[in-house]
Amino acid sequence: MANVNRQITLAARPTGFPKESDFKLVESPIPSPGAGEILVQISYLSVDPYLRGLMNDIKLYMDPVRIGEVMYGGTVGRVIQSGNPDFPEGVIVEGRLGWQEYAVTDGKGLRKIDPELAPISTALGILGMPGLTAYFGLLDICNPQPGETVVISGAAGAVGSLAGQIAKILGCHVVGIAGSDAKVDYLLKELRFDAAFNYRATKDYFDKLRELCPHGVDVYFDNVGGAITDAVFGLLNVKARISVCGQISQYNLEKPEMGPRLLSTLILKQAKAEGFLVFQFADRYAEGLQQMAHWLREGRLKYREDIVEGIENAPRAFIGMLRGQNIGKQLVKVARD
Ligand SMILES: NC(=O)c1ccc[n+]([C@@H]2O[C@H](COP(=O)([O-])OP(=O)(O)OC[C@H]3O[C@@H](n4cnc5c(N)ncnc54)[C@H](OP(=O)(O)O)[C@@H]3O)[C@@H](O)[C@H]2O)c1
Repeated sequence: MANVNRQITLAARPTGFPKESDFKLVESPIPSPGAGEILVQISYLSVDPYLRGLMNDIKLYMDPVRIGEVMYGGTVGRVIQSGNPDFPEGVIVEGRLGWQEYAVTDGKGLRKIDPELAPISTALGILGMPGLTAYFGLLDICNPQPGETVVISGAAGAVGSLAGQIAKILGCHVVGIAGSDAKVDYLLKELRFDAAFNYRATKDYFDKLRELCPHGVDVYFDNVGGAITDAVFGLLNVKARISVCGQISQYNLEKPEMGPRLLSTLILKQAKAEGFLVFQFADRYAEGLQQMAHWLREGRLKYREDIVEGIENAPRAFIGMLRGQNIGKQLVKVARD
């Protein structure tokens, strides 16, 4: 192998939508593992919406990425040199090793991946953080019951496509909201959602939702926030549950958006809206992964990956995902094999 590690660092803090010039491709020698450490060759990296928050100079639930630092992010790869008996050479691992081709680590926080179970890329999607987010965010926060109407926004993305399918497994009436006709086709024809619409081609979200949810909305899994969520509020049933998973429509705004003040709906409908971070379920990840793998093996869950090749294209893939170009989980294939 050439002794070069290509990395993507944060070059500037974006205002509004990130640009490719906010990132920089740098080269450095491949690091050598010391005692107790391993060298991982990264196969895939994950570009996720939460990384947008880490590009701002504000501590949310994690420290921001510093200027000049390698972009943070989930990866899956192979141990190619080992000084740590827990992670021998050849083992596949998943962990937050950042946007780079090679990483040295002591193994803390890494998860070993069984490549026989499913393609290793799934450790960043259906059998990883997005899958766990869908599983716990829907089941624990909303406890959907058979026959209930479940609305999913951001429905054709990594988390939304899985949350909707889990609701289908539970026997719910599932309605998806997504940003293109191709996504709506995917939801209806491949994932067997009961109904779906393209919000970019719809003037009145409320009217459309009323047509597709004739019995109102019992459960709302919210990935996007903004005007879509305002419309769903108008259809909530008594005792409705809202899982506030993400608010991606707000992440790239230069100024906060002013909307209607809708919390009184929660009073009138005796409804619950609850935010969560997937990490709060860390002590139950094994349960979630086991159930997702079981449904996957049974053919009851499907997944799609949108894969861009080459570390140099990670910024483009990230920006594309924020703009809705992905169907399913957006990944970057890093290893040149
Ligand atoms: N709470 C947690 O622990 C947790 C964990 C993981 C993810 N999340 C959140 O879950 C959501 C989905 O994450 P993901 O990884 O599955 O990403 P994703 O859905 O695969 O990709 C993001 C999608 O967001 C949609 N989008 C972008 N701008 C939008 C806008 N203005 N209005 C409506 N939709 C917009 C786009 O689809 P369209 O073409 O449909 O617009 C895009 O494909 C995000 O909000 C993320 O922050 C939360």
